[in-house]
Amino acid sequence: MFEGQYGEILCQRSMLLDTWRTNSFKNAIFANVKKGDLVIDFGAGSGILSMFAAQAGAKKVYAIEVDTDTATVLKKNVMKNKLQHIIEIYNGDGEGFNINEKADVIVSEDMGDCLIENKMNYIFLKLVKQFLTDNGIIIPSRQTLYASPAFLNDMHEENIFFNKNVYDLDLSEMIENNSKIRTVYCCDNREVKLYDTKELFTLEKNNFDPNESVISKEIKFHANEDMLINGMLLTWDCLLGKDSNGNDIHLHNFPTRLSSLSKSHSWFQYLLLLNKIEEKVRKNQHVSFHIEIPLISKSTYDDIKYCYNIYS
Ligand SMILES: C[S@@+](CC[C@H](N)C(=O)[O-])C[C@H]1O[C@@H](n2cnc3c(N)ncnc32)[C@H](O)[C@@H]1O
Repeated sequence: MFEGQYGEILCQRSMLLDTWRTNSFKNAIFANVKKGDLVIDFGAGSGILSMFAAQAGAKKVYAIEVDTDTATVLKKNVMKNKLQHIIEIYNGDGEGFNINEKADVIVSEDMGDCLIENKMNYIFLKLVKQFLTDNGIIIPSRQTLYASPAFLNDMHEENIFFNKNVYDLDLSEMIENNSKIRTVYCCDNREVKLYDTKELFTLEKNNFDPNESVISKEIKFHANEDMLINGMLLTWDCLLGKDSNGNDIHLHNFPTRLSSLSKSHSWFQYLLLLNKIEEKVRKNQHVSFHIEIPLISKSTYDDIKYCYNIYS
């Protein structure tokens, strides 16, 4: 999702319009950036997090942005806010970024829809290994990906629609391609049921090994009730850090209906589709789910591999 769409201004706008997301980062930055700090903002976009860091007292902020059009807007934003003496823009891929000094804080809004899109988190953690001081702070400090057997009612309804002799024609070919992942926006008006939620992995600065490029994990779910499922929904929760009162600041991309948020956030979720349109799992059966998640893939969407088994 990142370069193609996030590079576009419309997408930068929608992220800024998500005030829960942006204010959460603002709180984390104001609570953690100290006067005189050196800060790296990886994937700077509009420059919003770099500008927060500068306002919070940073003496120098490196704003890394790969997309040239976005970097042009970023530069204008920095100039309009008269922060060009603090914020230095690096218009290029974060992988090629290099400086001869260490950062006190490294920040990135790199979560995307499933934490690992477009190699961004991998590059972020590599930058952390390379450029963060020993006691430095990273924002977000912990990122966890979860999987849940899910039933998305819209998809079920769509499948019923295409299975009927609709328009007096057989349009069953139009049923969701079963072999593909799709992104879904589980916001206010979408009915989604999650039967259980299990952790797939957690990314932190101390558990990251740049040589590990694929996360392979098997999780098992026990059906406490009869379940009808049409996918495995991936969601994440991130701890950005502490706010100025010492409270944890979290962001997540859980379906809005199932969270306490009053308005929807700006993220989608990945729904890993099943081999069949729907699967029935009887009470007390199990679902084992094996997933291989590439950390260094540029086309994450195509490269996630998974299989599952339903058994008694
Ligand atoms: C989710 S947006 C965040 C933008 C901004 N930091 C914010 O919080 O509003 C991610 C940004 O990272 C940039 N990006 C993605 N991959 C990158 C890479 N490898 N190197 C540098 N920038 C990258 C995208 O172009 C996009 O502007």
